[in-house]
Amino acid sequence: MSDYQKLLDEAKNAATEAQSTEELSSARADFLGKKSSLTDAKKNLGLLPESDRASAGKELNEIRKLVEEVFEDRAKSLQNEAWNLQFENERLDLSERFESLRRGHLHLITQARDHLEDVFVGMGFTVAEGPEVETAWYNFEALNIPDWHPARGNFDTIFVNLGDPEEVMLRSHTSPVQVRTMEKHKPPIYVVAPGRTFRTDSADATHLPAFNQIEGLVIDKGITMGDLAGTIDSFVQAFFGSEVKSRLRPSYFPFTEPSAEFDISRPDGSWLELGGCGMVHPNVLSNCGIDPEEWQGFAFGFGIDRLVAMRYQLDDIRELVVNDARFLRQF
Ligand code: DAH
Repeated sequence: MSDYQKLLDEAKNAATEAQSTEELSSARADFLGKKSSLTDAKKNLGLLPESDRASAGKELNEIRKLVEEVFEDRAKSLQNEAWNLQFENERLDLSERFESLRRGHLHLITQARDHLEDVFVGMGFTVAEGPEVETAWYNFEALNIPDWHPARGNFDTIFVNLGDPEEVMLRSHTSPVQVRTMEKHKPPIYVVAPGRTFRTDSADATHLPAFNQIEGLVIDKGITMGDLAGTIDSFVQAFFGSEVKSRLRPSYFPFTEPSAEFDISRPDGSWLELGGCGMVHPNVLSNCGIDPEEWQGFAFGFGIDRLVAMRYQLDDIRELVVNDARFLRQF
């Protein structure tokens, strides 16, 4: 009996020492295999006196079972260790990875566009959109710029080879959205339309061939130039702060009469030209099916990229499109 207890202890030690399934099965063979002392003992049962054989056989079976359990338990714990190791190696803690990543943000132009929309929505406007590829009707004719009109040349238009020559183009301003809005909706109309615009300009410190404008259009009864000036002033103060002033200067656009350019004050007291505006020309209203005797309105349009360049004091407007992450990260 004490021999068996010793055997069991040895089996436990051998099992614990085994660090892999291979080591464990060779240790198991030492204790339970053909050449093990337990197998020998079984073979030798026949040499015992007959009266002892039954109890010795029973005892032998019991110890054999205990030794088998020792190896089974160790096999299970080795398997668990292997799984744990594999889980640890394959673990993918997403939160850990994200912490080390830098979070992106919206591009400066998108931020400005969102901010402009918010300011105008706060003043009661809704946001409209139009296509970037336009026909001559929307980009020019409906806006009171017939094909003989010298102002067409001022727009440096990029034409698209579709239909008649100079019939289809990348829109050179957001003003065509005025026409699309008036064609679709009855007055009163209070909309702003931000979007991309295109001209043949080469890129330099103050120009981009693909740039962004925002258009404004108000059509209602009894609208005057005073409403236009007040709207521009409220917008400028909401966007730039109450210390910034705005002013209108007489100008010319075919789609407005009278027309003006509007400037905003710089901290040093000088003025920066921001955009054009005016009272919507009666021809434009008629072209869009609105009776100019009944309805009046004003419109304005200005460049978003310029506005951003001014607000963040960029020396070169091309910074906005070269996508140098070191530049973009600052905003
Ligand atoms: N569309 C003009 C441009 O791109 C800007 C402009 C001037 C828009 C007067 C207007 C306006 O709505 O009334 O040069």
